[in-house]
Amino acid sequence: MFFKILINVSDKRFRKLKLKNLFDNLTFYKNKRNWDVEIFTNDLVKDHFFISRLLGLKIVKVEKLKKKSLLYYTKNQSFSTTTKKFEISNFKKETSKINIFIPSSTAFGSGSHPSTFLVIRNLEKIFMKGKFKKLSFLDVGTGTGILSFVIYKLSNKKIHATDVDLESQSCFYRNIKLNSISNFRFYRCNGLNNNYLKKKKFTLIVSNILLLPLKKLAKDFKKHLESGGILIVSGILYSQKNDIVNCYSKFNLKLVESIHIKSWVSLIFKKYAIN
Ligand SMILES: C[S@@+](CC[C@H](N)C(=O)[O-])C[C@H]1O[C@@H](n2cnc3c(N)ncnc32)[C@H](O)[C@@H]1O
Repeated sequence: MFFKILINVSDKRFRKLKLKNLFDNLTFYKNKRNWDVEIFTNDLVKDHFFISRLLGLKIVKVEKLKKKSLLYYTKNQSFSTTTKKFEISNFKKETSKINIFIPSSTAFGSGSHPSTFLVIRNLEKIFMKGKFKKLSFLDVGTGTGILSFVIYKLSNKKIHATDVDLESQSCFYRNIKLNSISNFRFYRCNGLNNNYLKKKKFTLIVSNILLLPLKKLAKDFKKHLESGGILIVSGILYSQKNDIVNCYSKFNLKLVESIHIKSWVSLIFKKYAIN
């Protein structure tokens, strides 16, 4: 069971407490002089105690989430997301675009969330710009497999995908079948922590997770990207952009492009060779 704990913190306390270092899954928005912070947790008792008693913060609201996903989004409604090249929907549909069918599930990745949509836009853009010399692709935190399928449709090459979630694994394989596509390899692991991936290098890595796990993965992204390789990240808020850009710059990953919708941002980094 997942819960959302909403707190409202003054700007001064928000800066002092550095909440984003204390919780793995949270979003925050500036609301006049204060911050509205949403903390997603599956351990309500522990986090409630920590927030109210130890941090001394007033909890505004606790909400039980109907779905398991931390980035809970409108999964059960029928949807159709259209990009330049793709039409992604949770029902079979006639379209002149490339169609990807992602039925509703408990794994994340329908295409309706801005963080996913932005990565697809970025993928379309970089594939249009030119061909990668060597082609090897990795999708970290694949969820339903949506980004892997988009890359496959754009490249027709083998895609490697990872996810920590058991449900993602079954969902990924089911969606491969439903879309009559092949040439994927799924690894259930944390980040790239899998023996088979140990020595692999990629020309393109995409990852739509959240700020904290993305920062933790910086070293691995650097290690597993070819020199000149591209990293696309998403699942971060505009207010978190500088944080991740600073973090990645220490790992030779330089920001080359940034796009955003509402408060969500997706960033393209390039790995430069060390001088
Ligand atoms: C926001 S969803 C993104 C799903 C899909 N890639 C998309 O863009 O819509 C994040 C996914 O990453 C997985 N995940 C979170 N942390 C992870 C980690 N450290 N390693 C691998 N997968 C992770 C979650 O289980 C979830 O399926």
